[in-house]
Parts: sequence; structure tokens; C-alpha cells
Amino acid sequence: MTFEALHLKARWLGCQRIDLEACGSTNDEAARMARAGAKHGTIVIAEQQTAGRGRDGRVWQSPEGGVYMSAVLRPPMAVIDVPPMTLAIGIGLCEAVRTTGAPAVLKWPNDLLVSDRKLAGVLVEAQSQGGKLEAVVVGIGVNINGELPPAVAETGITLAEAAGTTIDRSEFLERMLAHVERWIDRYVSVGIEAIIPAWQDRMAVGLTARATVDGAPLIGCVAGLDSDGSLLLRDEDGNVHRVRSGDVEVLRPAC
Ligand code: BTN
Repeated sequence: MTFEALHLKARWLGCQRIDLEACGSTNDEAARMARAGAKHGTIVIAEQQTAGRGRDGRVWQSPEGGVYMSAVLRPPMAVIDVPPMTLAIGIGLCEAVRTTGAPAVLKWPNDLLVSDRKLAGVLVEAQSQGGKLEAVVVGIGVNINGELPPAVAETGITLAEAAGTTIDRSEFLERMLAHVERWIDRYVSVGIEAIIPAWQDRMAVGLTARATVDGAPLIGCVAGLDSDGSLLLRDEDGNVHRVRSGDVEVLRPAC
């Protein structure tokens, strides 16, 4: 693995670390630890997951060879400000991946792609009580080495394939923690205005996407992000629509 000569080290992300050979979902482990009082920056990492999950209850295939990590955060923010943290984490993840030479790009809201295939995903979940944010669980899954399961062999890609070399999993994890921490800090201290341009600089361009807007299907070209982190899609008449929630499916790279 040929990382560029940038030696960032995480300061607080990973200050407490639990390594597991296997578990259901590291997000569930981290959520349980958060409820039990785990401190800000605690991480749990598994070699494999038997019930890894993504957004909207999708399965996240988690065979040996990948990185499956969840962190407990206790940021001083309101519950409403948690969702855009996904964008900030995506930027850090993208930076870490690019240090390996893999040309990763971001797909809204939580995917990292190489050659239109999915390399990594982010799952952010909030814990609150009486409207007050208690903790945020940040889950990151990255396909690193080895074979992908048949279900995702065509749509997914490993970092080893994307970078054209085998990857040292531990070294990549350290790099990932450092870059992700930097962007979480930036989001917490500066806010979404620090995130939008950085995310747009790294987003997949020229993508056609299908989304659901106000319950109606929409096909459009990915045009960037709105000031609150919503996705902007341009339809064939040139009208731009904001996608606040719901999924976006990339159809083809042809806008
Ligand atoms: C997605 O693509 O929708 C997000 C995938 C997130 C997967 C990671 S792997 C570590 C953590 N544990 C989980 O069960 N999910 C996240």
C-alpha cells in the first residue's frame, strides 16, 4: 500500500477501543456501550459482522477482510444537526481512501464509490432523551481485501481492487480515524458551511439519479448540495429539486 506522505493521527477518535472477532452489528454494540456511558471517541471494530446493516434497514455484507467500525460520539449539538454529520464523515472517509491512490467519490448521502461501484458506507444513528442528544453512533463499513459476496460482487468494490494493491487493514484504519476525526471536528466547530463545498469537491459528477420527492418519483442529474445538505437534482426541464430524505439510486453516469 502506498500512502501519500501525510501522517495524520487521531487525537480522540479511538481513545478507547474494543476489537471483536465477530458480532452482529458494531452499531448495535456501540449503541449498547453508549447507553452504558461509554465516553466520547470510544470505538468498536469487528473482523466480521453477522447482521451488518446500512440505511433503510439494508443488509451490509460484512465478510472477513473489511473494516467494520462504530464510534460513540457525544458532540455538543442538537438532534436536528446530527444527519449532516454523515456528509462530514463521508469527506474524511473519502480523503483516507484517496491516500491509497483509489479515485473515490461521494454519493449522497452516505456512500463512497469507485468506478460507480460501492466501496464504503456510513450509518449515523442518534440517541436522545427528552429531545436532548445523548450520543451519536457513527458506523463505517469499508470493503478492503478479499472476495466480495456474490450479492454485491458486481455493485461493490474492494479498496485493494480500487487501489490496485493489497491494503494493510490496520494502517488504513488508523488513517481513516484521523481523517474522519478531522472532519467531525470541523463540522462541530464550524458547521455545515464548512462541509458543503468540501463535499461537492469530492462528489461523483455526471450522475443520473432516481429519487422520491414529496412521494413522487423523480429522475434527474445530480447538481450538488443545498445549503442545508439536501441533494439538488436537475430534471430534464432544467428545474432543480431538493431531496431531503429518502433514497437516491444512481442509474448511470450519463448526465
Ligand atoms: C450504508 O451503506 O447504508 C451504510 C453501511 C454502514 C455499514 C457499517 S459497518 C459498521 C457499522 N455496523 C453496521 O451494522 N453498519 C455500519
